[in-house]
Parts: sequence; C-alpha cells; structure tokens
Amino acid sequence: MSQAASLTTINLLGPFDSLRMYMAALEAHGGVLRIPEIDQDAYEATALMYRLIDKYGWTGAPAVIFDRIKIDGEWMDGPVIANQYGRWNTEAIALGIEQITDDQPAMYQAALEKVISMADKNGQWRTIEPVEVERDRAPCKEVRLSGDEIDLLEFPWLQSNPADAGRYINTGNVITYDPEHGRNSGTYRCQLKGPRKIGVNPEINQHGWTFLMDMKERGEPFARAAIVIGADPITYAMGSSKTARLGQDELAIAGGFMGRPLEVVKCETSELLVPANVEMVIEGEIPFDMEEEGPFGEMYGYMGQKKSENFYMNVTAVTHRENPWFINQFTGVTRGYLTSLMEATANLTFKKAIPNLVGIHVPVEITGFAFLSIDKREPGEAFVAAEPLTKFLNIAKIIVVVDKDVDILNVEEVMHAVGARWQPHPATRIIEQSSAMRLDPSIRAEQKSELKVIGSKIIIDATRQLPEEGGPEVYQRLNRAALLEEFPDVFDRIDRKLPEYLKNWEV
Ligand SMILES: Cc1cc2nc3c(=O)[nH]c(=O)nc-3n(C[C@H](O)[C@H](O)[C@H](O)COP(=O)(O)O)c2cc1C
Repeated sequence: MSQAASLTTINLLGPFDSLRMYMAALEAHGGVLRIPEIDQDAYEATALMYRLIDKYGWTGAPAVIFDRIKIDGEWMDGPVIANQYGRWNTEAIALGIEQITDDQPAMYQAALEKVISMADKNGQWRTIEPVEVERDRAPCKEVRLSGDEIDLLEFPWLQSNPADAGRYINTGNVITYDPEHGRNSGTYRCQLKGPRKIGVNPEINQHGWTFLMDMKERGEPFARAAIVIGADPITYAMGSSKTARLGQDELAIAGGFMGRPLEVVKCETSELLVPANVEMVIEGEIPFDMEEEGPFGEMYGYMGQKKSENFYMNVTAVTHRENPWFINQFTGVTRGYLTSLMEATANLTFKKAIPNLVGIHVPVEITGFAFLSIDKREPGEAFVAAEPLTKFLNIAKIIVVVDKDVDILNVEEVMHAVGARWQPHPATRIIEQSSAMRLDPSIRAEQKSELKVIGSKIIIDATRQLPEEGGPEVYQRLNRAALLEEFPDVFDRIDRKLPEYLKNWEV
C-alpha cells in the first residue's frame, strides 16, 4: 500500500505542518513516482532524474521516492525523496489552492497570485513568531544520538555525480543565531567528511556567510549551528531563497505564510531553536579555521571548482524521527524549492521601483535569464524598467523585457517575442560591470576577487518598438490576433470538439 493510501485521512490542502503531510498530498494528486530499489553506486538515481526531466521537463517531472538505495556497496533504507518541488502544481498544492490540475503554468500563476495577495498594504509579508514546544513533543527528537553513537555515514546521503567530492547532505536548512542580526536559516550543501564531521558551504556574501564572518571577527571560537533536514515546504523555501532580508527571521515569515506559528524546539547541545516537525536535526560547532571542500555539480549545470577554504562543522548531536526520511537535491538537474514565494517577493519589491511592471520571472531551467513584462507606454521604458534588476538581481545576466501580452512563464513565447520584436541594434544595452554570480561558469578570472564578482549583463528590449524608438506607426498584428478578430469564438468552438477529434490519437 502506498504511503498516501495508508494514512486514514489525507489533508490535501496546504499549508502543511510537515514534509510527510505534503508528500502524502502530492502522492494523492498523482505526482509521485515510487522506485523500490536503485543502485546509486552506478549513478542510476542521477540518470533517472535526468531522463525524467528530458521526458517531462523541469516543471512537469514527478517527485520520486526511492525506498532503498545502494550507496558505497551497501543497500540503505530510505525513503530518499527527490524533485518534490519539481512540477509547478506542487506550489499550488503546498499553498493550499483548492482546484489542482495538471495545467502547470496555470497552477504556478495561481500560486504566485495567492502569495502576492498575502502581502500587507506596504507589500510586506506578515510574520508570526514561532512557538516553543517541549522536547518530548517534538517529532524530530524521537531518536537522540550523541557522541560515538553518531555516524552520519550510515544514513543514505547521496553522491549525485561521480565528479562531486563525495556524498552530500544538500537540503539542510542551516540555522545560526547572532545577537545583532537574529536568527538565520539558509540551505547550504554539506559535504560528508566523516561520521561526525561535515562541510558547510554558504557562498560569500550569503546571509549565513555574513553571520559566520561576523562571529569570527568578534573573536568567537566557533559558531553553533543546527542543520534541519526535511522541513515543511514553506519553511524549507524560506531557507532556500532570498525571501527574507538580512536580519529578518525566516521562521517567523514562514509562520506568516502558514497563518499559524511554526513549532520550534530547543537543540540538545545549544540554545538554538529549530523547527520541531522535521525529519532530522544535526547539531554542531563551526570553527573558523577553514578546510578544502568540493568540487560539486552546481546549479548552472556545470561542475564547480574545489574550494581550498570553506567552513566545516563538528557534529555534537543528531536527533531524528523514527525511520527518518531523506531528501536529495539533484542540483542543476531539477527544481529545488517553492519559487513562487521568492518570485512574489521580487515582484512586490520591484513594483515599487518600476510602476509599469506586470511581472518578473526567473526561469530556473535556464539559469542566467530573467524575464520582465511591462505595460509599455513610453519610449525607452524597457531599459528604465530593467535597470534596477541589473543592480539587485545578480542571477539576471540576460534580462529580456517583453510587452504584457507575452506570457513570461512560457519560455517559448518569450523567445518568440525576442525573435520577432527585437532588433539587436539599437534595442540592446550592455552593462559592462555589474555584480554577478560566482558560480556562473562564464565568469573570467579577472572578474573575481575574494569578496566580489563583477560580470557583464545585457538587457534585450523585445517589446514592440514605438515610432519614437524607430518602430512602425502601426505595429503588425499577430496572425493569431487577426484570426480572433474575425472569429472571436473560434477557440471555444474547437475546444468543445477537441475530445472528439483527439479520441483516436495515441501518444
Ligand atoms: C537544495 C539547495 C542547495 C543550496 N545550496 C547552497 C549552497 O551550498 N551555498 C549557498 O550559498 N547557497 C545555496 N543555496 C541557495 C541558498 O539556500 C539561498 O540563496 C538562501 O537564500 C541562502 O540563505 P541566506 O540568504 O539566509 O544565506 C541552495 C539552495 C537550495 C534549494
């Protein structure tokens, strides 16, 4: 019997208090592929994920649960979960939208709209402070391990690519506390280095990195940290994205989105409070002498370089549920978290600077791009609108600006506009120096210093050009628009007949 079916009642409506409840809903919606056994010593799980993406696309491939997995010559019990936030309708499921369909873009759009509707009148997210529960009531403490009892190597953490430095815990929210900035939660990959030792990889200038460097500068001997595995979808998304600003508490913002306080519990070996309803918590100390880490297959889909100096953590305690669940991110292969929360944040933030903004979309399947749609009225507006993005969205190397009739969730439609509406000269701006992404494999050696990466960016104005911009007095119509002008109900009619026309069609 499936995990979902074995639950007496399945709550299909998010937000969910745990990853397990979310996965049960996902399974009930038919979004989960169960694989009883897979041999990761032969990289079969990785190859399967690539194949699922090849076949169904980044926003259509199912979540996968591997029940048993072979790692380092041993069959280990899972479940190991992957691509649990892959399909776009997972966003709608996690956010509690009632009508779930397989129309993935429509589901993502619905999720985005729901999140945007949750902002207050100043465009800010509501916060609800977490509440502390007793240790005995916390599911993440059903099993408590300390000292020599801890052997992280016994758990099914994967090596995703043979070129990676080794096995990684790569979906943990690393929680730290700093008296000045408060609490931080960030997802950083952690290389397994021994039974009680792991790497911790906040990239330079991430909030987590700032926390650790501030503690180092204050002369503290180490930072206390707790790594949370398997948080509920919203708490996990808060740790995985820049929805919170430095100093804002991701756990309180998660509570705001969930409409109820997140339950937190005190760690065994520190005063840190961590989400209680999770699969596992790995507690420890991060000293400030650095060690080698990596290489690792990065989000751009290219192998990163080995780092000569990176943080590591000495593990002081591990607590977990009975039969914990594990999650692996196939980085650069699949989508990793609910992106609508972050994208709604970007939309609201930039709306203040760009009044005619209709939407921003950062497509994760083609890292480096950002699509912007505007309600264009004046010449030159595309560049004015894109300008703030070049400064504040490091990942946006290629910014494509389109008119509001183009669906920015549809890459093909955006590229169609680029092909048809864009004249490279003069409708292009190149910004020679702008803050950029260290992981971008195209960054040149001279563009990187220890603390900064300066890359170039391009703005492509693929909006219809107005006469003042050299465009025609009357812009040619789309063929489709011409059809609809003459036959406004033609699609309604054909949609009614479609099932009949398609009935003998086999895919
Ligand atoms: C699965 C996954 C793995 C990630 N790994 C890293 C990582 O190793 N280092 C990093 O700096 N950011 C990583 N990120 C992105 C950060 O989690 C994200 O930028 C987040 O905002 C960082 O939190 P912070 O802003 O509080 O530092 C990862 C995200 C996901 C979803």
